[in-house]
Amino acid sequence: MDNHVLVTGGAGYIGAHACKALRRAGYVPVTFDNLVTGWQDAVKFGPFERGDLLDRARLDEVFAKYTPVAVMHFAALSQVGESMSQPGRYWHNNVGGSLNLVEAAVDAACMNFVFSSTCATYGDQDNVVLDENSAQYPINAYGASKRAIEDILRDFEAAHGLRNVIFRYFNVAGADPEAEVGEFHQPETHLIPLMLDAIDGKRDALTIFGTDYDTPDGTCIRDYVHVCDLVDAHVLGLKWLQDGKGSRVFNLGTGSGFSVREVIDQSRAVTNRTVPFKEGARRAGDATKLVSGSTRAVAELGWQPDRSNLNTMIADAWRWHQTGHFDK
Ligand code: UFG
Repeated sequence: MDNHVLVTGGAGYIGAHACKALRRAGYVPVTFDNLVTGWQDAVKFGPFERGDLLDRARLDEVFAKYTPVAVMHFAALSQVGESMSQPGRYWHNNVGGSLNLVEAAVDAACMNFVFSSTCATYGDQDNVVLDENSAQYPINAYGASKRAIEDILRDFEAAHGLRNVIFRYFNVAGADPEAEVGEFHQPETHLIPLMLDAIDGKRDALTIFGTDYDTPDGTCIRDYVHVCDLVDAHVLGLKWLQDGKGSRVFNLGTGSGFSVREVIDQSRAVTNRTVPFKEGARRAGDATKLVSGSTRAVAELGWQPDRSNLNTMIADAWRWHQTGHFDK
């Protein structure tokens, strides 16, 4: 019973890939998920415990059952647009739920905590190189909720010694190359899966959200990172904590940015199909350009984001798109 890791959100896109990576690294991932946005089908690599982070008694029960060596905390509402129209849900679920989780971990003496944060905590800082020391001025409630959880972790470390690794993700994309798990949101809001759906006629043409941004082709620029590379960093972060190294923040991005139009062009090349799209208005809460300016994860964790090139990410997403889906 030694090597359990409690994975909140293990039935979601990133959490499910993390469970596979943990299993491969010799851990037993215990998925804790309320299945509001996750899929029971995606829990393939360890035990499943259905529960909600707002239910403290249920959390205590699961900590007592498995005595995990660490927590990997992915569970969260994560739609930028929705967070602008329903901020209360983001503060209740993301911040309230995380506070419960952190308190339960400390009470259970589970003192290694890996947290899924986001570059959305930086906000819209044009022409600023975003590294881990950049100021955090989120422009949407989603980013604000994640920044608040980072603050909670810092306070709980100071007071109770809860050691943490915080990963600030840029745009996660791609899928398990073996297509055991992949990206499957309901509703889907992310660029690449929407585009793949449009390509094979599963939904209407993709709308480009804004063509008047201050970028070379007028569309937003993002730093895409392969989900398998991303979760590999989490395993390295877990080992970092288990080796007794101190709390640390790491950006997870590649340092290369691609515009929406470039992603469309690459998708056309990978799939050899036409990408139906139209140009539309900007989406509320979107930053112009989000690209990581940090190599800290590579230098300090020894992270090697080998699959994070646009071609491989779209090819892996396309394979999953053609073969996989989840049911509750
Ligand atoms: N986009 C379109 N049309 C679409 C969907 C997206 O043009 O139908 C554009 C967006 O405007 C954006 C880019 O494609 O410029 C990427 O959009 P995604 O929705 O795929 O990703 P986001 O950049 O909005 O969000 C991601 C994560 C969030 C995280 C955020 C940080 O999904 O969890 O990065 O900004 F907070």
